Amino acid sequence: MSTDLVSVLAGARIMPVLTVPDPATAAPLADALTAGGARCAEVAFRTPDAEQVLKAMAAHGGLAVGAGTVLTPQQAERAVQAGARFVVSPGYVEEVVVRCRELGVAVVPGIATASELMRALKAGLDTVKLFPAEPLGGTRTLNALAAPFPQVRFVPTGGIGLAQLSGYLAHPAVLAIGGSWMATAAHLERGDYDGIRRLTAEAVESGTT
Ligand code: 3PG
Repeated sequence: MSTDLVSVLAGARIMPVLTVPDPATAAPLADALTAGGARCAEVAFRTPDAEQVLKAMAAHGGLAVGAGTVLTPQQAERAVQAGARFVVSPGYVEEVVVRCRELGVAVVPGIATASELMRALKAGLDTVKLFPAEPLGGTRTLNALAAPFPQVRFVPTGGIGLAQLSGYLAHPAVLAIGGSWMATAAHLERGDYDGIRRLTAEAVESGTT
């Protein structure tokens, strides 16, 4: 994990996870997120035009933009070509981690168990995504997993909303939390950028106080 990404995540605390079907919405979305105080975002590779969306959001300049839902080394390559500053995966796949290393891009794999965490440690990583955080047991599971691995930093994601975020962020091992509630498909369909700005601001405020 590069120090750069650690400081980006530690400074940002809140990482909006974005699934964006239409690249034309990338610029107003980036505007709304930055107006709400977001400093980073993850563009999920779950839509056909995710690379274009990533490119447009990275070009915006106000956000450190990473790629999410990266499942294969090929997707990692495409993400880096599109300007991803980091790569996030829902699970741990050795080939993705190795390719990201070769490409010189920070990678945050998902882990849900101590064994998966130990595989990440063995690969030399010390920052992981706890996924899916809430269904796994939330902060109780985070506490239990963090205890034997004091060197690890977590980015809990999955099922987190405004009500849960301060509980996670209070844990010293948590760099940042990820979540999609600030900018959903419904917001984008409605063109509700003000709603995105408002939810982002609420989250950022709650995460930094
Ligand atoms: C992710 O890709 O990290 C998750 O889908 C985001 O989780 P959430 O939608 O429950 O916030």
